[in-house]
Amino acid sequence: MKQVTASVTESRRILPGILHRSGRKISGVYLIRLRCPEIAGEARPGQFVMVNCGEECVLPRPFSIHQADGEVIALFFNVWQDAKGTPWLARRKAGDEVSLFGPLGNNYTLNPEARRLLLAAGGIGIASLRFLADSAVKRGLAVTLLCGTPTKHQYPQELLSPEIELVPVSEDGSVGKKGLITDFLPEFTNRADQVFACGPVAMYRAMAGMPELKGKPVQVSLEMKMGCGLGACYACTVKTKHGLKQVCRDGPVFELDDIIWDEVDLSI
Ligand code: FES
Repeated sequence: MKQVTASVTESRRILPGILHRSGRKISGVYLIRLRCPEIAGEARPGQFVMVNCGEECVLPRPFSIHQADGEVIALFFNVWQDAKGTPWLARRKAGDEVSLFGPLGNNYTLNPEARRLLLAAGGIGIASLRFLADSAVKRGLAVTLLCGTPTKHQYPQELLSPEIELVPVSEDGSVGKKGLITDFLPEFTNRADQVFACGPVAMYRAMAGMPELKGKPVQVSLEMKMGCGLGACYACTVKTKHGLKQVCRDGPVFELDDIIWDEVDLSI
């Protein structure tokens, strides 16, 4: 884990704002690239960084590592209109400096015999799964990515490697299949050796009850509110079948079956 000052190499809004079904507004979805070889060289898919987001935010904020190429990492994040921290980060421009530390947490684990992966990204879940998808494609694995969003504003296909089979799903049916990712997961599980997911807790609860996933190796990444990111403040504690765990230190990646989902806050 390194504490560094990174320079911004690129920052742009990728998707426009929308009104979320919760009634809160997302003002946009942003991609920022940070030159920090000390972190980019160590980062593995599933890990995250803690970013100091200016004066408006006392505590650092966690962000999944979206991509890492040895020199530069990318972060992909929602900016909620009423949030603190992410609006500041979204306003950074090329050449600005950002202080952060990481990489933190564990990582997704590929079974050596796995050949076909199914990735399920709900909402901003692509932020964490993109790095895994890229790494799997580099190893010659087949990757199907189910990507679910509320509206037609989907992660741009041109940003993805052409080897990735993208299956868009939208809640209003304006693009791809109409519904939630969990409505379509069962169709794709048979041909997958391993399943990876990143999304809201409601999605994980639905997955935990799916007969099609019973006995399948399924890893999920939990997004929790964090204070320290280092296992010191207990803000991110979650109940598992193996006792209390801290998402920042023991996760964020867990086996789907290990978490006691009824005890996890649905608002996450
Ligand atoms: Fe402090 Fe996890 S964020 S223990």
